[in-house]
Amino acid sequence: MERALIFLFSVLIIYVHKINTTELEIISTSQFLTEGDTLVSETRVFELGFFRPDNSENRYVGIWYKQISVRTPVWVANRNHPLPVVSPVVLKIVDTGILGIFNNNTIIWSSNTTMTSPNATAKLHDTGNLVLMDQQGKMMWQSFDYPTDTILYHMKLGKDYSRGIEWRLSSWRNNQDPSPGEFTWEADTNGYPENKLKQGSVINFRGGPWKNFRVTGFKYSLNLTLIYTVVMNENEASWNYYIENSSIISRFTLNSSGEVQDWVWEEAYKKWTLNTAFPIDICDPYNICKAYGTCSLDTRRQTCNCLDNERFVPRNQKSWEAADWSEGCVRRTPLDCVNGTDGFIKYSNFSLPDTEGTWFNMSMNLEECEAKCLKNCTCMAYALPDDSLGGKGCVHWFKDLIDMRESANNGDIFVRMASSELVALSTSKKKDGPNIKVILSVIVTGVLLICFISTWLWYVRKKKNNEQSIKGGNEELQMFSFTTISTATANFSTDNKLGEGGFGVVYKGVLEEGLEIAVKRLCTTSNQGVDEFKNEVTCISRVQHRNLVKLLGCCIKGDEKLLIYEYMPNKSLDSFIFDENRSVLLDWPKRYNIIKGIARGLLYLHHDSRLRIIHRDLKAGNILLDHDMNPKISDFGLARSFGGNETQGNTQRVVGTYGYMSPEYVINGIFSTKSDVFSFGVLVLEIVSGKKNRGFNHPEHVNNLTGHAWSVYNKGRTIELMNPSLAESCHPDEVIRSVAVGLLCVQKKAEDRPNMSSVVRMLDGEGALPTPKQPAFFIGKDSLEADLSSTRSNQAGSINGLSITQLDAR
Ligand SMILES: *[C@@H]1O[C@H](CO)[C@@H](O)[C@H](O)[C@H]1NC(C)=O
Ligand SMILES: *[C@@H]1O[C@H](CO)[C@@H](O)[C@H](O)[C@H]1NC(C)=O
Ligand SMILES: *[C@@H]1O[C@H](CO)[C@@H](O)[C@H](O)[C@H]1NC(C)=O
Ligand SMILES: *[C@@H]1O[C@H](CO)[C@@H](O)[C@H](O)[C@H]1NC(C)=O
Repeated sequence: MERALIFLFSVLIIYVHKINTTELEIISTSQFLTEGDTLVSETRVFELGFFRPDNSENRYVGIWYKQISVRTPVWVANRNHPLPVVSPVVLKIVDTGILGIFNNNTIIWSSNTTMTSPNATAKLHDTGNLVLMDQQGKMMWQSFDYPTDTILYHMKLGKDYSRGIEWRLSSWRNNQDPSPGEFTWEADTNGYPENKLKQGSVINFRGGPWKNFRVTGFKYSLNLTLIYTVVMNENEASWNYYIENSSIISRFTLNSSGEVQDWVWEEAYKKWTLNTAFPIDICDPYNICKAYGTCSLDTRRQTCNCLDNERFVPRNQKSWEAADWSEGCVRRTPLDCVNGTDGFIKYSNFSLPDTEGTWFNMSMNLEECEAKCLKNCTCMAYALPDDSLGGKGCVHWFKDLIDMRESANNGDIFVRMASSELVALSTSKKKDGPNIKVILSVIVTGVLLICFISTWLWYVRKKKNNEQSIKGGNEELQMFSFTTISTATANFSTDNKLGEGGFGVVYKGVLEEGLEIAVKRLCTTSNQGVDEFKNEVTCISRVQHRNLVKLLGCCIKGDEKLLIYEYMPNKSLDSFIFDENRSVLLDWPKRYNIIKGIARGLLYLHHDSRLRIIHRDLKAGNILLDHDMNPKISDFGLARSFGGNETQGNTQRVVGTYGYMSPEYVINGIFSTKSDVFSFGVLVLEIVSGKKNRGFNHPEHVNNLTGHAWSVYNKGRTIELMNPSLAESCHPDEVIRSVAVGLLCVQKKAEDRPNMSSVVRMLDGEGALPTPKQPAFFIGKDSLEADLSSTRSNQAGSINGLSITQLDAR
């Protein structure tokens, strides 16, 4: 009774307080903030208060710009502890000097104050920093020490060694939920400091070594001077920035899809304008060209090249030519440190490699730097990291040089080389002035040669009657001649037919050098032009992941368009899981590995590859297996080339496979990454059960596989779904987890389905799983009567009474 009265009373006080919402300039032990109140900074640049993100029921305490009409939170106090929906809350200082958010005297969030002081106060500064001070005005705690997803001017990124604090950004989970998401933007101080963008523990992108925010190919759309300050000493390694013109409002934000964006407020348009964002181009993904590889944006060149074409060679020439950069480059001549004859070659037009694990000393000059590196056989390269320090500074690399890209004005890096390679340099680089005679004769020979070659090329072209020859001038994608492929496949003989996938028939072939290939002969309904086709295929050939089938090249002749893939000896997944005899060859660990591999491949297509590809026809038949039964998704990217606006007989065709298609795709033709997620869910259930979703029969009910899975899951008998052949090899918790993930993926509403990064995390066993809602195409009790007859009589013709006759079911 007494309690209830107190509660009512406090609600009343707060209610009264709320009517007179106040703007405080300071929070002291006697003044507190409740919903509706704000704390404003000195000249009212920022304010702090309670807010609710768009479309969210949850309340948070945050800081935003006071003068900007678009509410933009730049800091959130209780990001991990949303406030209960309606109960009264206050932000106040308790006597010991702790700033806390209280809900009926229960503390929801508090500042991490280690000092105590009886009369502490909290103030918001014009920088956006919330500072808690003791009686003497000494700082006890500040919000700048706990950044959320935004860096403001003078806010630091890096490490405070003395206080054990790490300043880093972590993304919001999504626009509605400020709790920490998957991404962080942080300083790597293990070596010469640099910034890294990570997704969990995986590095997605690296900013250059500190001196400039990013040294390479980094374009700002607005012409603003950003000024950086770097601090590196035994107490601290930090980086911060501001814009020269202090009246410009700007912020760096790490968004929930893992992009760092610099936004500038334009008052005239009352909106935020994007000044720059990264990762942005094809060279941005971390370490795509591997050891001693450099990334190029020049479309006339390959994406990856060795540091130089003479002294370095690809570790695996063949795969390098097929645009598989995964093995990187090596020195043509091995180092010979023992005899002390190594030296250094200077490279100038590249960004400095990853400095993780490097050694540095900022008071050394370049000569001392070289001498010290030369003495140590494990020192692979040295450089001056910051040319703004009057020639001082030295970094040594001890590992292979990685994550380099072509870029002008980037300072020099000196790479260790065997002595024989140094000689080559000094002869090729003439010290004396240019010799006119030599140059002239070179030019004349060159011109003659070009004339000759072009005439010859023209002749050859004409003779070949427009057939594109091997490597038709396109370095990025191997062009095969039609004759080569038709020989390799014995004239597309039916004996060599591997199957019929989406968009065409697949043949096995063997090239003259013995390489086995799979050739997809595309049906010619697409009215795409040759150049568009080549472009598209070039793009797709750059999309590479170990769980995607590798595209080796293509061939175009007249109407014929062929795609040449690596050959997968174990054929497709459906030939195992749905076959009683072969099914035993895939035990549970192999199946779980396959499920996880497909998830990773799909994640790459959806989120990590440059193109953001939606597969649109994910099914067991499109999952190929390599020697070790690793899954590789095939036919990806084709939907981009062919599915877009394909028409036949004037009806918009829905491309896909019955049983794998999401309701919104079947009904409205809407496809998104979430329709792929749906297909993935079906596939998981099929892999676990060994049953096809399409044509699923169960003696007790008329549900399809997803409906059946949902029933057994709800009865707590999930394990019954598993194929009996897995009984001995299975890990029940993994099976149950997989089924639950499968069910989450086949939920009716696209927005309820997880994205692939969540799926990958769930499969890796991180955290509890949400409870799935009813899957699509579930035939519940109510609709049972109505649907029974149609479902039974014509399984392919009707789903919940919906006609899908115009469907191109394959
Ligand atoms: C509070 O500070 C301590 C020591 O500095 C640290 O270990 C802890 O993680 C901090 N907690 C929060 C919520 O920041
Ligand atoms: C600074 O920015 C403001 C607002 O954009 C602009 O009006 C002013 O001219 C700028 N000042 C300088 C020196 O560029
Ligand atoms: C850094 O270099 C300077 C100048 O050569 C030298 O005096 C100093 O001892 C070096 N410091 C370390 C830690 O090696
Ligand atoms: C060479 O450098 C490595 C890495 O800093 C170090 O561990 C090693 O002691 C050095 N060797 C010599 C001979 O100085």
